[in-house]
Amino acid sequence: MSSQIDEYFDAALELVKSSGNLIKEHVTGCKVFELKSCDIDFVTEIDKKVEQTLIGGLSEKFPSHKFIGEESVADGAKCILTDDPTWVIDPVDGTMNFVHGFPHSCISLGLVINKISVAGIIYNPILEQLFTAKKGQGAFLNGRQIHVSQVKELRNALVAFEAGTSRDEEKTKVVFENYKQIVSKGHGVRALGSAALNMAMVALGGADANFEFGIHAWDVAAGDIIVREAGGVCIDPAGGPFDILSRRVLCASTPELAQEISKVLCQYYPERE
Ligand code: IPD
Repeated sequence: MSSQIDEYFDAALELVKSSGNLIKEHVTGCKVFELKSCDIDFVTEIDKKVEQTLIGGLSEKFPSHKFIGEESVADGAKCILTDDPTWVIDPVDGTMNFVHGFPHSCISLGLVINKISVAGIIYNPILEQLFTAKKGQGAFLNGRQIHVSQVKELRNALVAFEAGTSRDEEKTKVVFENYKQIVSKGHGVRALGSAALNMAMVALGGADANFEFGIHAWDVAAGDIIVREAGGVCIDPAGGPFDILSRRVLCASTPELAQEISKVLCQYYPERE
C-alpha cells in the first residue's frame, strides 16, 4: 500500500507544481471573478483551470480513482465519498486572497482512501511553501520535516480561525462569540484567509490550533494528514472524532489543547456535505 501511495503522491506532486504556475501569474491579484454561494464567495478562471488540470492529469494516470473538486461540485457534481481512492481538490484555497493579491493562497490536494486522508499536498506557489505528508512518513515543508508545537493549554496558544465565506447570521454570531472566547483566554488569534494554510501553520508549529465551522472536505483533506503526520490531532470541534464531510474541523498541536478548545467553543452545525 505504502509504495502505491508513493506512486500516487509523486504523480500528484508534479501536477500540483506545474498548476502552481497558473497561480503565480497573478501575484498582484486576479480582479476578474464570479460569485458562488454569496457575495463573498468567489471563483476565478484560475480556480477552474487548476482543477481541470489536476483532474485531467490524475484521471489519465489513475483511471479508477474518484474526485471531489470544489469547482466541479459548484458546477453540480455530487460530493460522494466512497472507500475508493478519491482525490479531494481545492484548486485555489484562499480565493479571496488570490483576488486581492494577499499572498496566502494555495492548491490543496488530499488523497482519501477508505474515507481517511493518506496523502496531502498544500502548495502556495507565491511564497514557495510546499507542505506535504504521506501516511506514516511524516510531514514536510519544502522537504524539511516539520512538527507541531508542544502547547497543551489555551492560555499559551496562538489560534488560527476564520470568519469563512458565508453571511449567515447565526454563523456570524458564533464567529464573534468564539473570537471573544479565544482572545480572552489564549495568546492571540490569526487568520491567513485559507483554511488549508491555517492547518499547515499548526503542522509547522507556528500556530497551536485552528478551527472552523462551514469548511468543506476540499479545504481540510490535505491539512488533516499533514497535521497528523506532524504529530498533531484533528477532531470535531465538539470533541468527538473528525468527520471529513461534517464541514467542521478543529486541529491542534496536542489532544489536551484540542479538548480544552472544544469545551470553550460556541458550536455551529452547518448542513453536512
Ligand atoms: C475558503 C478559505 C477561507 C475559509 C473558507 C473556505 P476558498 O476556501 O479557505 O479561508 O474561511 O471556509 O471556504 O473558497 O478560498 O477555496
